[in-house]
Amino acid sequence: MARVTASVYSSHVPAIGVAMDLGKTDEPAYQPLFAGYEPAREWMSDNTPDVVILVFNDHANAFGLQMVPTFALGMSAEYEPADEGWGPRPVPAVVGHPALSAHLAHSVIQDDFDLTLVNEIPVDHGCTVPLSIMFGQPEAWPCAVIPLFVNVVQYPVPSGRRCLELGRAIRRAVETFDDDLDVQVWGTGGMSHQLQGPRAGLINQPWDNAFIDRLVEDPEGQAAVNHVEYVREAGSEGIELVMWLVARGAMGDLAGGVAPTEVHRLYHVPASNTAVGQLILEDASARP
Ligand code: DHB
Ligand code: FE
Repeated sequence: MARVTASVYSSHVPAIGVAMDLGKTDEPAYQPLFAGYEPAREWMSDNTPDVVILVFNDHANAFGLQMVPTFALGMSAEYEPADEGWGPRPVPAVVGHPALSAHLAHSVIQDDFDLTLVNEIPVDHGCTVPLSIMFGQPEAWPCAVIPLFVNVVQYPVPSGRRCLELGRAIRRAVETFDDDLDVQVWGTGGMSHQLQGPRAGLINQPWDNAFIDRLVEDPEGQAAVNHVEYVREAGSEGIELVMWLVARGAMGDLAGGVAPTEVHRLYHVPASNTAVGQLILEDASARP
């Protein structure tokens, strides 16, 4: 059977991808950040899964205002990097896992989540930047990736509670897939940032760090936090952090198992005009 082995949490700041694409990671502005990523990359090279379910938001690159699905699941064999206005990133296409997508769709929809199913869609920096952060610049990504899109761009956005419950439903789905697969669930976006308006450049380090603490130790409590607090404390784009609750909801302690093991945490300010966070939780329940 398939199993959820870990959850990974990551900002998806486009400038981090640009720094890698242009070979600028050793420049003083970026060197400390990329040094901070090293332990996560080492862990990942020892713990590469078969499939990543990558939770992120499209930034009006694939979905415009003509369609605003709250939760949309990628069903394809392949996803091209999106052209976000300056050409697609020079990174490999994302290879999907259609059989697991089909099973996820069946199980999660029967579990009362009305997912939108997407058979053809490009993936923007929300998906490709976390892959670059974790895997560097390979010829091909080392595992299959199933994109799961969450709307945090056009209000109303889903609640933290709904995101946590979706993570639980994903775990139940993975655990009923017959193939022997190691699956990770990644939550991306954040940390605090606001890209426009009078508060552009807002960063709230105490709130960000309290968010990570609470996500690890009290996910149910964090799931009860209203979106208004995210926007007030973490900026208009800080609402992306609700997507971390999907990944947290897929950990075994929320299905009656033991607490996950924190193997890595990073908090760095700034990258571009954004606070950057990274967290890895191993699922202790999944250990053989
Ligand atoms: C930026 C864009 C993002 O989508 C994000 O999550 C963080 C930063 C940016 O344009 O700087
Ligand atoms: Fe974003």
